[in-house]
Amino acid sequence: MPRKKTTPLTTFALIGAGIVVGWLAVRQARLAAAKGEFAGKVVLITGGSRGIGQALAEAFAAQGASLVLAARSAEQLEHVAATCRVLHPQVETLCVPTDVGDPTQLENLIDQTIARFGRIDILVNNAGISQGGRFEEDEELGRFQRQMEINLMAAVRLTQLALPHMLARNTGWIVNISSIMGRFGFPFVLGYVTSKHALNGFSEGLRRELYHTDVRVLSVIAGFVETDMIAGDTSRLVRSSPLSLVTPEQVARQTLNAVALGQAQIFTGWFESLMSGLNVWVPRLMDHVFFKLAPPEMVGTASSHYTE
Ligand SMILES: NC(=O)c1ccc[n+]([C@@H]2O[C@H](COP(=O)([O-])OP(=O)(O)OC[C@H]3O[C@@H](n4cnc5c(N)ncnc54)[C@H](OP(=O)(O)O)[C@@H]3O)[C@@H](O)[C@H]2O)c1
Repeated sequence: MPRKKTTPLTTFALIGAGIVVGWLAVRQARLAAAKGEFAGKVVLITGGSRGIGQALAEAFAAQGASLVLAARSAEQLEHVAATCRVLHPQVETLCVPTDVGDPTQLENLIDQTIARFGRIDILVNNAGISQGGRFEEDEELGRFQRQMEINLMAAVRLTQLALPHMLARNTGWIVNISSIMGRFGFPFVLGYVTSKHALNGFSEGLRRELYHTDVRVLSVIAGFVETDMIAGDTSRLVRSSPLSLVTPEQVARQTLNAVALGQAQIFTGWFESLMSGLNVWVPRLMDHVFFKLAPPEMVGTASSHYTE
């Protein structure tokens, strides 16, 4: 019987599938080898009182890390800390009520962490706010500046305070929780978009500045995540577009995996990653796409994004 000829397309598909399976197997093996690597590590998380910060705290706690939790609401921090201590017998917690917009309170946060644990292994700059609305109606740029302070400058300041402690031991991770809105411009949330673009630039530049050391920087570029930040947003864009709506726990799991694998940057969904690429190569086409995804009437929905 004559053998069936393999077409180039089939060969290509088989090679592609082989590469993907091989890559997944290597990834799983590396994750298995890294199991337990967070036990006893000191992890400082800003915005650890709820949302993604809470999920990160619980994920690190489940692996036996010690936690320093910072946010403004002391009561909520204590609640998260208590949950974390139940998750693993080794977990130690320190709650430091902090407004990350106040540089003096950031100094106090680092001082208290060093006094209690003597080191910081992983700093997660996660605290953030989102305040939407039309740019030209942002009086005295109040919204814009507030988002730059909390989403960008707090992370920059805290990193500068934590870095000497990491460099002294030549080890550590700076994890910046950023957003897909730091990869392409969304209308009506310009303060947020600008702060997250700047945060991405900061992360990338710092990563390269520290390349010769063993202090690593990870950017987590999240799409929409089901937390208080977008709770009031019922728009089609958030609820049923291919921009994946993920849970805080998924973001936390991906973040821990990324640290374990030594990654520099992760996206939480494939569509975000694709859009980010298209935005670089065909920006005018993407203007049209955004006009369809977020038409001018969308300003009302954007204004419902107001966290503080
Ligand atoms: N949800 C999304 O769709 C999404 C998507 C991409 C990226 N992100 C990013 O993920 C991070 C966490 O957001 P989330 O979705 O978890 O929001 P969230 O549920 O609203 O939580 C925000 C956290 O930040 C803290 N925070 C806000 N202002 C603060 C301040 N001045 N000082 C100290 N802590 C402050 C809050 O605690 P207190 O109020 O107690 O201070 C809270 O713990 C943010 O950086 C956000 O930009 C979110």
